[in-house]
Amino acid sequence: MLHHAMQTAQQHIVAKGAMSAAPTMLGISRNSIAGSNRQQSSPASSASSIPAPHISIGSLQTGLSSRQQGTMARRCVQTAAGNGGGLQVDLTGKKVFIAGVADDQGFGWGIAKAMAEAGAEISLGVWVPALNIFESSYKKGKFDESRKLSNGSLMEFKHVFPMDAVFDTLEDVPEEIANNKRYAGNKGWTVSECAERVSKEIGNIDILVHSLANGPEVQKPLLDTSRKGYLAAMSASAYSFVSMMQRFAPIMNPGGSVINLTYIASNRVIPGYGGGMSSAKAALESDTRVLAYEVGRKHNVRVNSISAGPLGSRAAKAIGFIDDMIK
Ligand SMILES: NC(=O)c1ccc[n+]([C@@H]2O[C@H](COP(=O)([O-])OP(=O)(O)OC[C@H]3O[C@@H](n4cnc5c(N)ncnc54)[C@H](O)[C@@H]3O)[C@@H](O)[C@H]2O)c1
Repeated sequence: MLHHAMQTAQQHIVAKGAMSAAPTMLGISRNSIAGSNRQQSSPASSASSIPAPHISIGSLQTGLSSRQQGTMARRCVQTAAGNGGGLQVDLTGKKVFIAGVADDQGFGWGIAKAMAEAGAEISLGVWVPALNIFESSYKKGKFDESRKLSNGSLMEFKHVFPMDAVFDTLEDVPEEIANNKRYAGNKGWTVSECAERVSKEIGNIDILVHSLANGPEVQKPLLDTSRKGYLAAMSASAYSFVSMMQRFAPIMNPGGSVINLTYIASNRVIPGYGGGMSSAKAALESDTRVLAYEVGRKHNVRVNSISAGPLGSRAAKAIGFIDDMIK
């Protein structure tokens, strides 16, 4: 079942000019993720072998309607969240850090589940304001059903780190946030501090997933979006990725892999996906291309983006019309 979900996911992933014809899953080469693809040159080994980022441009390349993409995305996450057969890769011994999980409804959870099925050790970065509710729901067993793996065990997280991807260092945190009661009591949650904690508590990681976005004015058309709202969307949804790459790439094992999640509104008009979120996704995709080049050369780590179909996650529900898109 999960294998099927991954096959559907593959249809969203289109390697733009990528040198490798290796099959990809979740934007990651199956073989190289397991560290066993000796045919694929390492990104750093030669200039011509730098893999281009795998950015799907959704229905434009898949020929699927937004509704069909939505059905696929839902099926992918539901299947990953259910008892799938496991990724057809062996990730045993691989350390994964996923930023952007705060419940069991979004892509981050689905990816965590699929990778846990494949044997990876999963750690999470949870947005600080969402951490309490995530931890209490977890402890109360609210996620137990969706934690079930195909072997009957429950998915475990090695570490759960508080994180806020719009702040790079402690010096960037304004007083009103530092003193906010949803942040008080948590320490070390800026991107740089989080990377340091990951390095100290987990060691080097093999896979990094950026599955987060936020646009406070997402319900407003671009024409009505304020500068503040636009820049906030860019900061949380695009620059957060650049910031993470700066701090996490140096603590990744060579041959590692990074993925982020984008949306077709980056290059097509999707009315309702406002507040500068379409701009943020366009920036994210462009940054993915550039970082694939830079990080590939500097750290021998691949960087890819998956363009996902609509899914009724918590973030998507904030947009307001996600259920119509999925129907
Ligand atoms: N749901 C969709 O239809 C859809 C479609 C295409 C792409 N995506 C993308 O998938 C990714 C995951 O979103 P999702 O739809 O699964 O929703 P989600 O709500 O499960 O995930 C978004 C996460 O971002 C976290 N977050 C928000 N601001 C943050 C910050 N400053 N620092 C750290 N974490 C922060 C939230 O706590 C949440 O856990 C996003 O990049 C989103 O744009 C979603």
